[in-house]
Amino acid sequence: MIFFVPLVSQIYVNIMRIQIINGPNLNLLGIREPEIYGSKGFEEYLHILRDKYPDISIDYFQSNVEGELINKIHEVGFDADGIVLNAGAYTHYSIALMDAIKCVASPVVEVHISNVHQREEFRRHSVISPVCSGVICGFGLDSYRLAIESLVH
Ligand code: DQA
Repeated sequence: MIFFVPLVSQIYVNIMRIQIINGPNLNLLGIREPEIYGSKGFEEYLHILRDKYPDISIDYFQSNVEGELINKIHEVGFDADGIVLNAGAYTHYSIALMDAIKCVASPVVEVHISNVHQREEFRRHSVISPVCSGVICGFGLDSYRLAIESLVH
């Protein structure tokens, strides 16, 4: 008797997954205070970023709602290779967001477009910095690329 054994070949491609999360008012990038945040919208910048890192899967999420940001961190925070988080003004006071970062396994890099240390006093304090793996601020939209670089290396 002859048996035909189907040959199943599985190829596993280990692609790096990075999640970018933008918090409140960052949906208005390009329109909002361009003298501080520049005149490029984030979707436009995302194209540039994805072209620069064709071998990395870069997902993007933005919300103005604190709970939605927390839900997204929980959702991706055990699978993503890294989270690049610009929490906007929540950076300065959201203990709930700080706890969410502590809950998950993925490293979270805190990002700010502006140099928060050159601005109002209240922006100099971040409640999330102590639980993030690093902080990048002040390089405009390039801060996001630098954060990705830190996760890649
Ligand atoms: C910001 C700085 C925050 O203080 C501010 O509330 C923002 C943007 C930045 O990217 O520079 O919304 O996170």
